[in-house]
Amino acid sequence: MHVLTKPSLFALAFAPSCNFVASAQPFSSSFSSSMFGGGNGVNFAEREGRVKCRVILIEPLMVEPDAKERSTVACMLYPEYEGDSISGITYELYTPSFPHGFFEDVDYSTTDLTISAALVKTAGAGREHGGGVIVLKNGATATKELHGKGMGLRGGSSRRLAPTVGNSSLIVLYAVPLDASNSDRTPTQLANDVFGMAVNETQDPVNARSQVLSCSGGKLSYIPACGTSGQSCSSNVNQSIWFKNGVLRVPIPYNVTGIASGTVKNWVEAEAQKILQAQTPQINLYSFTQIMNVIPDEADWGGAAAWAYLPGQTSAFRNSYSWRMGVQVHEFGHNIGLHHSGNGTAEYADHSCLLGNPSYEDDGPEICFNGAKSWETGWYATDSVDVVPSSTVPFTADLIGAADWSTGTYTPGSHRVVLRITDSTVTQKYHIMYNRAKGPNAGVTFAKDKVTVTLGAPQQVSWHQAALGPVNAAGNVYPVFRKEKFNGGNKVSKACENDSLQVFLQSLP
Ligand SMILES: *[C@@H]1O[C@H](CO)[C@@H](O)[C@H](O)[C@H]1NC(C)=O
Ligand SMILES: *[C@@H]1O[C@H](CO)[C@@H](O)[C@H](O)[C@H]1NC(C)=O
Ligand SMILES: *[C@@H]1O[C@H](CO)[C@@H](O)[C@H](O)[C@H]1NC(C)=O
Ligand SMILES: *[C@@H]1O[C@H](CO)[C@@H](O)[C@H](O)[C@H]1NC(C)=O
Ligand SMILES: *[C@@H]1O[C@H](CO)[C@@H](O)[C@H](O)[C@H]1NC(C)=O
Ligand SMILES: *[C@@H]1O[C@H](CO)[C@@H](O)[C@H](O)[C@H]1NC(C)=O
Repeated sequence: MHVLTKPSLFALAFAPSCNFVASAQPFSSSFSSSMFGGGNGVNFAEREGRVKCRVILIEPLMVEPDAKERSTVACMLYPEYEGDSISGITYELYTPSFPHGFFEDVDYSTTDLTISAALVKTAGAGREHGGGVIVLKNGATATKELHGKGMGLRGGSSRRLAPTVGNSSLIVLYAVPLDASNSDRTPTQLANDVFGMAVNETQDPVNARSQVLSCSGGKLSYIPACGTSGQSCSSNVNQSIWFKNGVLRVPIPYNVTGIASGTVKNWVEAEAQKILQAQTPQINLYSFTQIMNVIPDEADWGGAAAWAYLPGQTSAFRNSYSWRMGVQVHEFGHNIGLHHSGNGTAEYADHSCLLGNPSYEDDGPEICFNGAKSWETGWYATDSVDVVPSSTVPFTADLIGAADWSTGTYTPGSHRVVLRITDSTVTQKYHIMYNRAKGPNAGVTFAKDKVTVTLGAPQQVSWHQAALGPVNAAGNVYPVFRKEKFNGGNKVSKACENDSLQVFLQSLP
């Protein structure tokens, strides 16, 4: 049985053959959901019926030694299927109940899923809006529908993806449950650790806002939600709630010890919506472009320090990692669609990039992004080029690092930031960048002051390939990087005036 859906007003990007009839595995009672499975003393309640939701990919940053890296396919219910007009409540999708390959063509955070008959296992009877697990019932149809980026969900909430450039209004939801606390930082201190907004302390020198401003040369700016910079909500906030410098204190009426972090995040966003909806005029939580949930360590994090929608608006942090700049920027990087940066076979091990996991202190180490990610953000586009290496005339470029680019210490037109090797036969391309340890990248130790070669493509994990630098002290012996399809030479000159390094690219027969 194939059911055709009527094309919606928006583009219908999937062929009708994408309406699958389920005949896959029913829910197994041995399934234990790590993110939205409730937890301590929370039992599943069940209901059945039609549901509509937006498909999300959630990426964790694992820190506990034996924790297994596992991204979660989840779905954010449309408010009419959740009740109370509460938006954003997210459920894990029980992927074994879906046909093989069902999620391969999904554009996460923009694809809607309609299920004709779902089993919805909600976490925490009596405790609303905890999320849970959605199972596709046998014989039911599942329809995927692509919406343009930035389209709003029905129900009044306009849901956006986190922007790569411009101002991103960021709200920090500081959870205050019954039984545990974010003991590392007060809400006031957290505003300092995220935005550098100091009240009674000295200003935090390196935070998510300052680091991203510096790496991007001012192109991406995190603005505290309802702050003073031209946001209409700044005058709405009344004195009976604690909402200052972008941080909203959110009391939640439950215990969280041992409760799955995704369930807690759902509770926090539900309570935050109630607080903001009680303001006159109402403030819509999802009108902010990013939402950072800070939740006590006592919740069940499954070995993660934090996790984020990839891409999307939402991130969640364990209290004890929430104030660390490298972890903040790593998660916010996922929100703008950046995947991990690996080396060898380890997905986090390219420590020349904050999408590896090298930076765990309050203020650093200060690191920016590798060549593939730097290309993907578009920040350096005016001074980055696609190169088709010629076999006769080498392409020569003077590379500068992100620090000199962001302060304008270079000559436009003669200095470059990222070189990408054009090759239409492969998806992942080589990106060449000078990993100069200076300014916002001063803390880098991996491939420090070397020219790095990174294989990558937008919305994919990138892989470090090589770190090239002068091989003798005089700097007159040059390393060469060669690969099939990129028979390029990379010749590195002495670090010269204005911190630039020269490279040569050539295609060899
Ligand atoms: C970002 O906000 C600042 C105020 O903080 C404003 O001056 C600027 O015009 C805004 N930029 C964009 C691209 O909206
Ligand atoms: C800042 O310090 C002043 C004076 O000591 C005190 O009254 C106020 O409560 C403090 N504010 C915060 C947010 O800690
Ligand atoms: C929360 O946990 C405390 C013990 O830490 C317990 O006394 C209390 O009854 C619990 N409250 C709820 C609402 O579960
Ligand atoms: C102020 O916030 C409180 C708590 O959310 C709410 O009950 C009250 O209605 C709000 N007052 C105004 C004038 O918005
Ligand atoms: C990348 O990983 C390899 C092992 O796979 C290691 O030999 C190399 O030193 C690493 N690169 C850097 C720059 O540390
Ligand atoms: C180095 O920078 C200075 C000042 O920005 C500029 O005048 C000079 O031309 C630069 N040198 C090179 C080799 O680009």
